[in-house]
Amino acid sequence: MRIAVIGTGYVGLVAACCLAKSGHEVIAVEKDKSKLNMLQNGMLPIYEEGLSDIFEHITKDKRIVFSHDLKGALRHVDMAMIAVGTPATSDGRVDLSQVNEVAASIAEFSQKPMTVVMKSTVPPGTGEMLLRRYFSKANADIEYISNPEFLREGKAVWDWYNPDRIVIGSSSRDSANLLAEVYDDIKAPKIIMDITSAEMVKYASNAFLATKISFINEIANLCERVGADIDDVAPAVGMDKRIGKHFLQAGLGYGGSCFPKDTKGLEYISLFNDYDFNLLKAVIEVNAKQRVIAVRKVVQALGGDVMGKNIAVLGLAFKPGTDDVREAPALDIIDHLCSDGAKVNACDPMAIENAKKILKNNGVKFYSNPYEACAGCEAVILATEWPEFLKLNWKAIKESMKPPFVLLDGRNALDRGVIVSCGYEYYSFGRRTKRL
Ligand SMILES: NC(=O)c1ccc[n+]([C@@H]2O[C@H](COP(=O)([O-])OP(=O)(O)OC[C@H]3O[C@@H](n4cnc5c(N)ncnc54)[C@H](O)[C@@H]3O)[C@@H](O)[C@H]2O)c1
Repeated sequence: MRIAVIGTGYVGLVAACCLAKSGHEVIAVEKDKSKLNMLQNGMLPIYEEGLSDIFEHITKDKRIVFSHDLKGALRHVDMAMIAVGTPATSDGRVDLSQVNEVAASIAEFSQKPMTVVMKSTVPPGTGEMLLRRYFSKANADIEYISNPEFLREGKAVWDWYNPDRIVIGSSSRDSANLLAEVYDDIKAPKIIMDITSAEMVKYASNAFLATKISFINEIANLCERVGADIDDVAPAVGMDKRIGKHFLQAGLGYGGSCFPKDTKGLEYISLFNDYDFNLLKAVIEVNAKQRVIAVRKVVQALGGDVMGKNIAVLGLAFKPGTDDVREAPALDIIDHLCSDGAKVNACDPMAIENAKKILKNNGVKFYSNPYEACAGCEAVILATEWPEFLKLNWKAIKESMKPPFVLLDGRNALDRGVIVSCGYEYYSFGRRTKRL
């Protein structure tokens, strides 16, 4: 199949590369000139495990073309996949301007029958709106499919080939089958439903996962107060098959480009549809609170004031395996500490360049070497559980630090026995200092 993928961010670029690898002819359309320039010159603008090998392979074999010209691309393809951003507005709404712009262009430029596949996360009802507003008035017949994407950054390539399910929302069985054929090499249940239900599956899935995270964080906070240990509680809870073990890791909470905006988006959609989604409101509030609790723990451990104190923050990406810092807990924590007068050394193996664009003018020093970042600091915060951080020589780090040697394990990821035996003041979320 000849496919245009519009938008080459984390979703679009992975989709474009993997579709090309599967044998489709792909034109990836990107409007950001610097990204496009990199792609046309054989460089990847993002880091994703396994993507560079695929990219090298498909570009060498000329199975993918990168272009800024949507109009030109539409002349050559039978299917257009939209993978542009749908960020949150300041009041939590989903900003559909990128989607609207692309839909209007497709409607204007299409000259032959075409299937439009929406991979961007859009609020329930968007597909029907796009059909009404743009596609029904297009020059050529357009079939519209909602095909929400569930891949995780850091594991995006693996997830592309191994999804739990492929959701296909369409009003036409033939179009749905056509898309199912595009994914022929992917062994996963292909579930066909109406467009609005498919859109809802994506929001419901992210909201539920976010709920699990906020729930276990509440339990961890309560563990601290009653003397229980979340490391015993969470796994035992997760062994119940009805609950499941995933997303029960207490800590700084969720960040990234999806959960924060999708939970807020769903809350707004609920409000707009005259429904008070109280559970979701609490999930969002709990998640925001975890970052404040983290700062409070460090401030208290440093005697109630961080003015002039040196604090290392290990991890800037919102999770390991990605250079994405969107809504990363570390950034809020650093911002808070800096505005209270702390001197912050920030460290990350992948995300420094992206973090620099956000953490401007507050004196943060950036390090790629964690040992250098921690030297001379009174406190260290582990904000992202990169595997290399878990294997650090914590004894050597402590020797380079200044008292009181505070370590906040924001992801409950370190071996607390080792950390305590090194002489740190160890803080976490819901873990006792010593395990039975
Ligand atoms: N990032 C994830 O892990 C993830 C996972 C599942 C779903 N999603 C959803 O997928 C969508 C894309 O997410 P992302 O993280 O890849 O976004 P992103 O912001 O990284 O990438 C979007 C890209 O689209 C480009 N673009 C915008 N308008 C364009 C236009 N008119 N023509 C061509 N290119 C255009 C932008 O320049 C950018 O490169 C969002 O709706 C998101 O919610 C993301």
